[in-house]
Amino acid sequence: MSKAEASLMNRIVSLSKRRGFIYQASEIYGGLGGFWDFGPLGVQLKNNLRDAWWHSMVECPPMGPDGKPLSIVGLDSSIIQHPRTWQASGHAEGFADMMVDCRETKSRYRADHVICARYLSADAKISGYISGQDGDNTKDQISKKADKLGRKKGIKFDVDLSELIPLTSIPVENHGRVIGPDASKAGTLTDPRAFNLMFESHYGVLQTDETKVYLRPETAQGIFLQYKNILDTSRVRPPFGVAQVGKSFRNEVTPRNFIFRSREFEQMEMEFFCPPEDGMMWYEFWVNERMRWWEEVAGCKKENLFAHVIPEDEIAHYSKGTTDIEYRWPFTEPNFGELEGVAYRTDYDLKQHAKFSKTKLDYIDQESKERYVPHVVEPASGLTRGVLLLLCEAYQYDESRPSPEWLKIKPSLAPTKLGIFPLMNKDGMPELAEKLYMDLRQDYTCQYDPKQSIGKRYARMDEAGTPYCITVDGETLKDQAVTVRDRDTASQERVAIDKVREYVGAKLS
Ligand code: GAP
Repeated sequence: MSKAEASLMNRIVSLSKRRGFIYQASEIYGGLGGFWDFGPLGVQLKNNLRDAWWHSMVECPPMGPDGKPLSIVGLDSSIIQHPRTWQASGHAEGFADMMVDCRETKSRYRADHVICARYLSADAKISGYISGQDGDNTKDQISKKADKLGRKKGIKFDVDLSELIPLTSIPVENHGRVIGPDASKAGTLTDPRAFNLMFESHYGVLQTDETKVYLRPETAQGIFLQYKNILDTSRVRPPFGVAQVGKSFRNEVTPRNFIFRSREFEQMEMEFFCPPEDGMMWYEFWVNERMRWWEEVAGCKKENLFAHVIPEDEIAHYSKGTTDIEYRWPFTEPNFGELEGVAYRTDYDLKQHAKFSKTKLDYIDQESKERYVPHVVEPASGLTRGVLLLLCEAYQYDESRPSPEWLKIKPSLAPTKLGIFPLMNKDGMPELAEKLYMDLRQDYTCQYDPKQSIGKRYARMDEAGTPYCITVDGETLKDQAVTVRDRDTASQERVAIDKVREYVGAKLS
């Protein structure tokens, strides 16, 4: 299959690997499902997105409704916390997906990801459901499976693909009539059962129930645990926020869609503590602010973002409102899928931790002497998922370019800002180009590339999403000017060497 024919997602995955953005973890051992490594360009891109978020949250928080900057501080809490943390938060009991196993193939599926279609044999003697796994080719999977089974059994299956039904919507007593996604006959799926998503470990030398700990499934709880220390040791008062970026771990049953859902990933979460009566106002504020941020700071097209207000009967019992900020992923298109959740969590978490730890976590206003447990609004986004958004937004295909595949990453987030080349390795060009490189690398991530034709070098930089390339050529020694090429337009401009810093500074700011 040619590149142009491969699905958009497959092209993004293969470019990511070929150019060192993202590799499969443990690849030389055959890989490990749901784990990914960020290569040289990928880690730089991820750090840039993380830094942009940190800057907008902690270093330069947005203006509040009163026109004054909000007060938000940072935290870096432990991945492993006291196990009671997860009892208080509800993760020990409730953080589970419903799973089914296949007795025939030993495969395990998330029950809501087993998608079924009704069938009838041509002689109308047998009926039931043929299933596939949820994805962009579910219908295809089911019809191929029906053909294959039909050939094997010498029966023609009449499959109704107009209505796809998740296994969870089929009464359990009828599960015996479902042919599992990889099974050859009906009735091999077990009843759905809860499967906790937290990874377990032990601390200390003994491996007993008392020393059992969990890798955090979200960064948020570490913030609640340190809320009191932060109040007591810094000058913040409600309304204020605490922001954290870091790894989280979930033993996802079906990690999928590249780094969209993995078992180890990074989150960028902020808990905003406010007086109870202002909770709804801050919830609306943060939904708007986060939509604005993905568009203006991360450079996402407006039409690819969607604020999905979760219906009341689907949100957590303690939440007074949840909005998912969704993105039109290549694998959900034309629909959208979650990028970030903004949840009004009320005082649930602080009250739970106060109860389980027997520590007072209320706040006393020094002026009014009013005592209350602050309410919390939480914008919780995935850093890893954010990197996938940047790659999906940036991916371009144009046969007329030096490299048909290229990345139009927003310059402020691009892993490498400048490519610097001598046109030829002679006549003083390398010396001048190296001098420029040594100067500009102090302020910008630059790559010095003296090898191969200029077209190949532009192609390499375009694939890496580098916004500008600077070439020192034969004329430079005479006119003290260089050629600056713009990645997006491929246009070239002659700029005096002593004005290059100013020129790229204005373009990259
Ligand atoms: N503290 C709330 C919380 O963790 P969540 O919706 O479960 O909420 C927040 O997670 C964000 O973390 C998601 O919107 C998503 O971007 C990211 N995320 C969650 N699970 C993930 C996974 N398995 N792989 C990659 N990103 C994930």
